[in-house]
Amino acid sequence: MVQRYVMKEVEEHYPFLMACRRQPTPYTPIWLMRQAGRYMKEYRALRKQYSFLEMCKNPELAARVTLQPIGKFNLDAAIIFSDILIPLEPMGVEFEFAKGEGPVFHHPLRERKDVERLRLVEPEEEIPFLMKAIRIVRKELEGKAPLIGFSGAPFTLASYIIEGGHSSNYVFTKSLMYQDRPTWDALMEKISEVLVRYLNAQIRSGVQAVQIFDSWVGCLTPGDYDEYVLPHSRRVIEGVDRSVPLIHFATSNSTLLERMKQAGGDVIGVDWRVDIGEAWTRLGYDVGIQGNLDPVILYGPVSLIEKNVKKILDSAGSRPGHIFNLGHGILPTTPPDHVAALIDMVHEYSSR
Ligand code: CP3
Repeated sequence: MVQRYVMKEVEEHYPFLMACRRQPTPYTPIWLMRQAGRYMKEYRALRKQYSFLEMCKNPELAARVTLQPIGKFNLDAAIIFSDILIPLEPMGVEFEFAKGEGPVFHHPLRERKDVERLRLVEPEEEIPFLMKAIRIVRKELEGKAPLIGFSGAPFTLASYIIEGGHSSNYVFTKSLMYQDRPTWDALMEKISEVLVRYLNAQIRSGVQAVQIFDSWVGCLTPGDYDEYVLPHSRRVIEGVDRSVPLIHFATSNSTLLERMKQAGGDVIGVDWRVDIGEAWTRLGYDVGIQGNLDPVILYGPVSLIEKNVKKILDSAGSRPGHIFNLGHGILPTTPPDHVAALIDMVHEYSSR
C-alpha cells in the first residue's frame, strides 16, 4: 500500500504530465511523434522479421517497440506503439499496408448503406492486444516515464475510409460532406462513438494521457470545420475520461486554432507552419501547447537544430504548459544522434 502511494506521488510529478496541466516544471518536457519507428536501427531489425500490423497486434512486440526509444533517449514520455487505423478493422473496414504506399482500403465507403454496415466496437474484447501492450509497458516504465495513448480524430479517420488511402484533394470526402449531410453525420457519429470507447479502454488499461490526431483536417475552411467537424470532435473529447489530460493535435491547423480549442483539449498540438508564441497568444494561456520543430530541421547540422530549438523555447516564453515536440512525425531517415542532441538541448536550454 505504502509503495503504491509513493508511486502515485512520482507519477504526478512527471514533467510531461505537469506541463499538460500547465503546472511549472523544472524544464520543458519533450517527446516526439512517431518516436518508435524506422529511423531507429532497433526498429528496422524487428521489422525485417514482422510486418507493421503484426507488430501492432502482438502485445509483447508492441510493448518492446514502444520502449525502444525510451531506452535509447532521454524522452519525457512514451507513446504506445499502434496506429490510428487499428480500430477500423473491427468496425468492418478492411485495409492493408502496401509496401511503400501506406494504407490501402479495398472498399472505400461512398454510400449510406456502407455506413449502416459499420460496427460499433467493444475495444477490450476486439482490440485486446493493444490493452495488453499498454499493461506491459506500464509495468516496464514504472517510475521512469508516463505513457500516452492515442486515436485518430473523426475527420481524419473518415477521410481514410472514404478516400481509400491518402489523398491530395479529399474530393470524395468533401463531396460526401457537402452533398449528403445525413450520411456524413451518421458516419462521423459512428466513428466518434467508437473513439470514445477506444480511448476510454486505453485509459482503463493504464495510459496516463491521450492524444487525438486530426492529421488531415487542415484541408477544410474554418467555416466547414465549424459545421461538419467541430461538433463531432467535441463529442469525442467530452466523452473521454478526463482524469487524464488530452492533447488535441492537427497539422496545417493555423487557421483552426481557436476552433480546435472550442472542440476541446488540455493541450493543443501545432505543426511548424505557425510561430508557437503567436499560436499560444491566439489560443490563450488557459490551454497548454505542444510543438513545433519542423522534422526536417533534425537533418542538421547541430547548430541549425540549436538555433531552432532556442527560437521555439523563446517564443513559448518559459510559460508553464509547453510540451516540446516536432510539428509532425519524425521522418524515417532522421539521424538518431541528432535526436539525442535535440533532447539534451531542450532540457538544457529550458532548465529553470
Ligand atoms: O507516435 C508513435 O510513435 C506511435 C505510433 C504511431 C504510428 N502511427 C506508427 C506507425 C502513431 C501515433 C501513428 C499515427 C498515424 N498513423 C497517423 C497520424 C499521425 C500523423 O502522422 O499525422 C496517421 C495518418 C497514420 C496512418 C499511417 N500509418 C500511415 C499513413 C502510414 C504509412 C506512412 C509511413 O510512414 O510509412 C502508417 C504506418 C506507420 N504507423 C508506421 C509507423 C511506425 C511505419 C510502418 C513501417 O514500419 O513500415
